[in-house]
Amino acid sequence: MIDLLNKRAVLITGKGGVGRSTISAGVAIAAARAGRRVLLVEIGEPESGYSPLARLFGRDRLPEKIEPIGRGVRGVLLWTRNGHEAFLKTVIPMPALVGAAVRSKALGRLLEAAPSFQEMGIFYLLLTLLKARRPEGGLENELLVFDMPATGHTLALTGLPDILLKLMPTGPIAEALKEGQSYIYNPALTATCVVTLPETLPVTECLELIEGLRATSMPVACAIVNKLAPQEFTEAEHEAVAPIVQAHKVFGADRFLRLSQTRRSLDRLRGAVDVPILTIPEFPEIGDDLLDAVSGAFLPLSPTGAP
Ligand SMILES: Nc1ncnc2c1ncn2[C@@H]1O[C@H](COP(=O)(O)OP(=O)(O)O)[C@@H](O)[C@H]1O
Ligand SMILES: [Mg+2]
Repeated sequence: MIDLLNKRAVLITGKGGVGRSTISAGVAIAAARAGRRVLLVEIGEPESGYSPLARLFGRDRLPEKIEPIGRGVRGVLLWTRNGHEAFLKTVIPMPALVGAAVRSKALGRLLEAAPSFQEMGIFYLLLTLLKARRPEGGLENELLVFDMPATGHTLALTGLPDILLKLMPTGPIAEALKEGQSYIYNPALTATCVVTLPETLPVTECLELIEGLRATSMPVACAIVNKLAPQEFTEAEHEAVAPIVQAHKVFGADRFLRLSQTRRSLDRLRGAVDVPILTIPEFPEIGDDLLDAVSGAFLPLSPTGAP
């Protein structure tokens, strides 16, 4: 099992509905249980009023300033606008001007319309959070866990440094970008995980996303196959039963077909990628118990065998 809990940043990506938020929360809770100072980060999109990730911690939204959100985890919601401000501070040396620039409606519209400026802001905040120190000198955020936004935004974010460095190879922005790259493109520090379900379409999308991330030089640490139904049949049993189930609507056929789809999807993924594949079972629990179960899957086993 790859050591997610000892990285500096874990980026949880994948299509919506595959369990990205549940896995992000699970990794963050596991890190807290392992004694790490962890920050769970969500990137807010202005139109999204309600956050399923925050719901897992009993709130409607994650806080806009870092604060404990429960289970030993601190949380924060990053807004592209806050990112603009932090970013503008590096390019505009006068704080008063930054304030004016951020409040300017025209500039706000411009920044929101220019996609790489949005990503630049987030990228800049990411770097600030990675570097933050506590008064006594230790790291403020030993581990950052990101519930990443939709695939398109993720690729824009991971592809940003390369694109911008071609446009501006020197200067303060280039320096920030290069420093950011030294974290996010370093597999010892950052792990990007692509979450999928053991189903045909999600696996196709997962393979596309892995390709896309690689094209942006972002190393992929692992694929996480979530909600894996327990296999009740051996391979030989599958082969024997499949033709019968396909020909007749026997009792239990739906479940059997789902299990064959699970098996085929896993095989396909294993054949197509060279990154480690983690599997997370489909748990019957809900709410806090589900979080306990999912976070347990990310904790190293103790010598007694209990997580
Ligand atoms: N391993 C799991 N076992 C059981 N239910 C799960 C598991 N992972 C996620 N879920 C459920 O699947 C649904 C979607 O999960 P969510 O994390 O919100 O997905 P996403 O963030 O990708 O949209 C939620 O109802 C969640 O409780
Ligand atoms: Mg989500």
